[in-house]
Amino acid sequence: MSASRAGIAVVGCGYVADFYLNTLEDHPGLTLVGVHDRIAERAVLAAGRHGVRAYEDLPRLLADDRVSIVVNLTNPASHAEVTLAALAAGKHVYSEKPLATHVADGRRIVAEAERRGLLVSCAPANVLGEAFQTLWREIRSGAVGEPRLVYAELDDGAVHLMDYQTWKNSMGSPWPYRDEFAVGCNAEHSAYHLAALTTMFGPVRRVVADHGTLMPDKLPPGEDGPVGPDYVTASLTFGSGVMARLTCSIVAPADRSLTVVGDGGVLRLDNCWDFGSGLTLRAPAGRGHDYLLGARPVDPVRPYAYRKRYAADHRMDFPRGVAELAAAAGERRQPRLSARHALHVLEVTDAMTARHGSTEITSEFAAPEPMTWAR
Ligand SMILES: NC(=O)c1ccc[n+]([C@@H]2O[C@H](COP(=O)([O-])OP(=O)(O)OC[C@H]3O[C@@H](n4cnc5c(N)ncnc54)[C@H](O)[C@@H]3O)[C@@H](O)[C@H]2O)c1
Repeated sequence: MSASRAGIAVVGCGYVADFYLNTLEDHPGLTLVGVHDRIAERAVLAAGRHGVRAYEDLPRLLADDRVSIVVNLTNPASHAEVTLAALAAGKHVYSEKPLATHVADGRRIVAEAERRGLLVSCAPANVLGEAFQTLWREIRSGAVGEPRLVYAELDDGAVHLMDYQTWKNSMGSPWPYRDEFAVGCNAEHSAYHLAALTTMFGPVRRVVADHGTLMPDKLPPGEDGPVGPDYVTASLTFGSGVMARLTCSIVAPADRSLTVVGDGGVLRLDNCWDFGSGLTLRAPAGRGHDYLLGARPVDPVRPYAYRKRYAADHRMDFPRGVAELAAAAGERRQPRLSARHALHVLEVTDAMTARHGSTEITSEFAAPEPMTWAR
């Protein structure tokens, strides 16, 4: 595959597909060849809007030689099946998170990709964004001294009090609340912080966690269905010695902040979902109770150009991860969002709700590089 241009095809044309397709034009290295959804009308609608082919089924998509990367935007329950089928057809894969719903499937995906010499990347791509890359550069440059403690919040709002049944993307696809509630907030959202923390501090070695389903009746009146955890909190101990407390819910008011406490100061990222998020450094300004009054905003490594066509509450350049995968394939290197890293994140995520209590984590991954513009 050439480093400059990669043919991609999207599987799954639901709510999130819009966020990928609408900003693809910012990535001249990616050419959309076609789309597929098992709900045919969704594929036809997306294909019509973007002037590409709607494949009737997955085998036809996988048989198209112009496609080198399959972008798997299906529901979590389909991730492993679609990713493994794409690998078997010789395609690289960019998958929405989680890599799979079961760790065993995640391991199969990594093994298959490595056996076939193919690349798999997994969302979230927030670690490729300007805000996170700036935070990481500040940590590396010693802005807070030695990092010791992190508080990571991923509360997505009190969803049970909101009119979520009315949320739609620009193609009219509804927010898939039944699936979101069934999968639960941990598998849906914890990866945003886990990817960020493991990028900065390396592998997690111990997880001590608890979780609950605190609003079991949040489906609309008259609707029945499985409801997974809507609250989880974990204390994570990294091999590097850093400890983090991660809280994730769809019960508490929105707070997606990340606070890194070092022996020389404190850095706070306001919103891990926002590539243009504010970042504040508080350095010691004295030894009294006002010792952290020296707060100043940190200039981003480069400004994030927020586009009108991006969804207002998802200020993320979703296809950036796909573009990074395409670049990695062209340069014959591992992508910054590597499959082994995604597997580690999946193992930690799984440990956060698989049991109440402590889990040792042993998996490794190669440390990702900062973006070249953020070195
Ligand atoms: N909803 C969000 O705000 C959001 C944000 C970021 C990431 N994500 C992630 O994106 C992924 C998709 O979420 P969504 O909100 O778009 O869900 P969705 O239900 O709106 O869309 C998923 C689409 O995939 C299709 N699909 C499922 N299995 C398939 C298969 N085997 N073959 C072909 N098509 C198949 C479905 O028909 C559906 O149209 C999930 O992994 C989710 O975690 C969602």
